[in-house]
Amino acid sequence: MTGATAAQWCAAAELGDVVLYDVIEGLPQGKALDLFEATPLAGVDARVRGTNRWEETAGSDVVVITAGSPRRPGMSRRDLLAVNHGVVAEVAARAVEHSPDAVFIVLTNPVDVMAYVVLRASGLPPARVVGQAGVLDSTRFRAFIAQELDVSVEDVTALVLGGHGDSMVPLVRLAQVGGVPLSELLPAETIARLVQRTRDGGAEIVGLLKTASAFYAPGAALCEMVAAVLRDKGRLLPAPAYLQGEYGLNGLYTGVPVLLGAGGVRRVVEVHLEPEERAAFLQSAAEVQASMAELPGAPC
Ligand code: LAC
Repeated sequence: MTGATAAQWCAAAELGDVVLYDVIEGLPQGKALDLFEATPLAGVDARVRGTNRWEETAGSDVVVITAGSPRRPGMSRRDLLAVNHGVVAEVAARAVEHSPDAVFIVLTNPVDVMAYVVLRASGLPPARVVGQAGVLDSTRFRAFIAQELDVSVEDVTALVLGGHGDSMVPLVRLAQVGGVPLSELLPAETIARLVQRTRDGGAEIVGLLKTASAFYAPGAALCEMVAAVLRDKGRLLPAPAYLQGEYGLNGLYTGVPVLLGAGGVRRVVEVHLEPEERAAFLQSAAEVQASMAELPGAPC
């Protein structure tokens, strides 16, 4: 669902042609045809097609990986590691054979670990493998803030760092509404409630859907990142990126602000963190590291 929904957002934004890949015969073809048939109504020229053959994805500029199982109620994202790492490694290896120059954006959970799996399986440089998590977590935080204050979502900015799990770090100090710090607009206890709802955002949807996890907002978040790459925007977005000394961390993916444009991650941006923010960020990164240790051939 997330792959197809990302395709819908991307086609509607006329970002380019889209190829949906799945192992199930007919499924990507049917979804792609349905979506393509909507393009005259949307007024966009985007060719959308579905396939079960990697050859048909050849020469992609961006590869978005959503393959694998989603969560069920009661599961953590980390519970998916054992099921998903094999399929994600296989998909990455096959995709890169046909699109060696692409930027890879990974959504499959646990995303911080799966981005590392893609890095390892693809052999690509770290700049060309990035995860999607922080854009989703931040849009949830922004939506809740806008709803609480009854203001336009356009004016709300927020940054969520760290691993995409229960210990993610919504940076309240850096959240703003039209440039005004959030702390001047809402009492601390209300902000704390919104922060917790953000942390629980994925689980809240899983709890409601029961047999699926979220896909509209994750799909939109993927589209935002695809657009940043294809249009070489140089967006400053939070995303799991491979750290090589930044924030004092090495050899793992975790959510940090990155400059995203053509070629992928132009650089990881190191923002100043207050001591308690840094402690929460490092704690979250430590949890990613603990998950990575569950991988076969674990680096740590
Ligand atoms: C979520 C899943 C995609 O947060 O991780 O909804």
